[in-house]
Amino acid sequence: MGYTLVILGCGVMGQALLSAIYNAPKADSEEIAKLYPSTIITCNHDEPSAKQVDKLLATFDESPNAIKVSSTYGQNQDAIDKASVVILATKPFLVEKVLSGVQEQIKGKLIISLAAGWTIDQLTQYTEKVSRVMTNTPAKYGYGCAVVSHSSGINNDDKAIVSQLVSHVGKYIELPEKNMDAATALVGSGPAFVLLMIESLMESGIQMGIPLKESKECALKVLEGTVKMVEKSGEHPSVLKHQVCTPGGTTIAGLCVMEDKGVKSGIIRGVEEAAKVAAKLGKK
Ligand SMILES: NC(=O)c1ccc[n+]([C@@H]2O[C@H](COP(=O)([O-])OP(=O)(O)OC[C@H]3O[C@@H](n4cnc5c(N)ncnc54)[C@H](OP(=O)(O)O)[C@@H]3O)[C@@H](O)[C@H]2O)c1
Repeated sequence: MGYTLVILGCGVMGQALLSAIYNAPKADSEEIAKLYPSTIITCNHDEPSAKQVDKLLATFDESPNAIKVSSTYGQNQDAIDKASVVILATKPFLVEKVLSGVQEQIKGKLIISLAAGWTIDQLTQYTEKVSRVMTNTPAKYGYGCAVVSHSSGINNDDKAIVSQLVSHVGKYIELPEKNMDAATALVGSGPAFVLLMIESLMESGIQMGIPLKESKECALKVLEGTVKMVEKSGEHPSVLKHQVCTPGGTTIAGLCVMEDKGVKSGIIRGVEEAAKVAAKLGKK
């Protein structure tokens, strides 16, 4: 019999985690099966949000690992009483209020926190077992990235549970907490930066007369194909970039203009700026 997992705040990210964990492929050994919850309780503040979760649940088939879910609102204390693991997924500015309301119930339990800017030091005031996670919205489709840091109170069994639950969002990467603000910018905000690139490529096609639908298809395939090429070749991107640059050709001409316009330094400075804002979040 597995444990009870609470998703405290089941909005965009909470629902992404819920989908990923509930629909995870059947665990093929008893040991792995032990790492899954038998029950998930989702907690929201009000009825409309709980109904959103019900709507999502109605789209699911039976869980391959026989996980049962109940969607609640206004019942944080009761839910956490029953749980041994809590995924904290409220907005950062609500974390203090929400955790203060369950102070007694959450002591000694494992918190997996998605809250941007909330440090392990701040969260260990509520329980010594804290895993801090930064993930992103592609997690909804299983193509997310999760950067994870653990408090000193986390043991190897806890780490195995965190890794099993969180790795379903896509890629799971452990890093020291000092890298978390950078990860918040690169991973959490990253999809918005890549969407800007996709939008720009699409609009370049439209500007030169390619219809919108085909411009979008071309931009997406260029992005997907380039990612696969970097992964499969194992080469540094600049090596692959130079392989495409014929002397005096089209690609180097385009790259020169982009360098003139500061595209590369604009991206680096933009991500850096996002990290500065992330560093201030938990202090608000
Ligand atoms: N969205 C992203 O791209 C992204 C990326 C990386 C990290 N994150 C992190 O993920 C966390 C969640 O973000 P989100 O975008 O998923 O937020 P969200 O969609 O607003 O979801 C937050 C949920 O918390 C619930 N909630 C509010 N007060 C509560 C309370 N007192 N008790 C229980 N539940 C309560 C809300 O329910 P009600 O509607 O009923 O109030 C809502 O369903 C944040 O800490 C954020 O830093 C988000």
